[in-house]
Amino acid sequence: MSNFWSGYIIVLALANIIGVAVLLMWTRRMDISDLAKDGTTGHEYDGIREYNNPLPRWWLITFWGTIVFALIYLVLFPGLGKYPGLLGWTSSGELAKDEQLYKRQYGGLYAEFARTPIPELAQNDRAMQVAGRIFANNCAACHGSNARGGLGYPNLTDKDWLYGGEPEKLLATLTHGRKGVMPAFKEAMGEDGVKEVVAYTLSLSGRIVDPELAKAGQARFAICASCHGASGLGNQALGAPNLTDTTWLHGGSEAQVMNTVLYGRNNVMPAFDQILGPERVHLMAAYVYYLANVRR
Ligand code: HEC
Ligand code: HEC
Repeated sequence: MSNFWSGYIIVLALANIIGVAVLLMWTRRMDISDLAKDGTTGHEYDGIREYNNPLPRWWLITFWGTIVFALIYLVLFPGLGKYPGLLGWTSSGELAKDEQLYKRQYGGLYAEFARTPIPELAQNDRAMQVAGRIFANNCAACHGSNARGGLGYPNLTDKDWLYGGEPEKLLATLTHGRKGVMPAFKEAMGEDGVKEVVAYTLSLSGRIVDPELAKAGQARFAICASCHGASGLGNQALGAPNLTDTTWLHGGSEAQVMNTVLYGRNNVMPAFDQILGPERVHLMAAYVYYLANVRR
């Protein structure tokens, strides 16, 4: 803050306080003898006349009290421009104090969690309780408060993984995030071509489809196989889902699968290394492991 603005604020704040004090004293000394003889101000509106009684004593005392309070406050705390106040209170100091307290309370806890291997940590009730709260704050908005996901957001409580459920895979997912890119095929295959390949795709999970369409689609599936595998079982290195089961990330109705293949999908799981730090990322990997393998 420049000296000018600091001075400006000091003058403004003090002038305000002094101003109301002067106003209070002035109204007490005001000579009202020349007002109407009946003790009113002489105003009349709609038959209502206004008395000119002094302010009640309790009210005056309260008002003076607030003025004294304001002055004491401004001496002790920052408020007058750059003047820091006698107590040296700062908002960043308060934050640092809270952070230190937090570190003392939880720092050791997280460090201990971080030393525990993920499958073992997933058995630790206390750790999973703490993780549950972190989940509610950081993950539930997308994966749901019950972690069962929704359209476009994977269910974390089943054992059906896009990228794998082993501890190292979960750690990698949370640390670096994931991008699931399913290309669009409207241009390359045309609407009819997509209809055929979708018929074949749906047949992979045992759905009843038009056999003619599916047969034509089987030839087209070669290009899909490069990511989803020759028999459609998926590829966790790419996050390409298994197409032979009944779990659908983007919906399993014919219309939804048509949409996925016509227009593609771009799905992002954010990286959490910067947001949570490595210790809490470790804890959350254990939590996902717990959701899928331990919790009943
Ligand atoms: C902004 C939304 C969003 C938030 C917040 C989010 N996720 Fe995700 N997450 C996703 C999406 C979308 C995917 C699927 C990515 C894909 O399709 O490639 C995903 C995928 C995952 C996967 C991989 C699942 C699999 O089948 O391999 C895990 C594990 C996961 N999230 C855990 C978490 C945890 C734990 C948190 C909180 C720390 C979290 N996510 C926060 C959107 C989110
Ligand atoms: C470049 C690799 C790649 C190719 C080629 C590809 N896919 Fe995909 N596909 C993916 C990925 C990755 C996802 C997951 C997208 C996500 O995470 O949201 C996906 C998702 C899907 C889904 C949604 C599955 C669900 O659970 O909702 C369907 C259906 C699908 N692909 C069908 C096909 C078909 C049919 C073809 C061929 C015409 C094809 N894919 C070609 C990578 C590919």
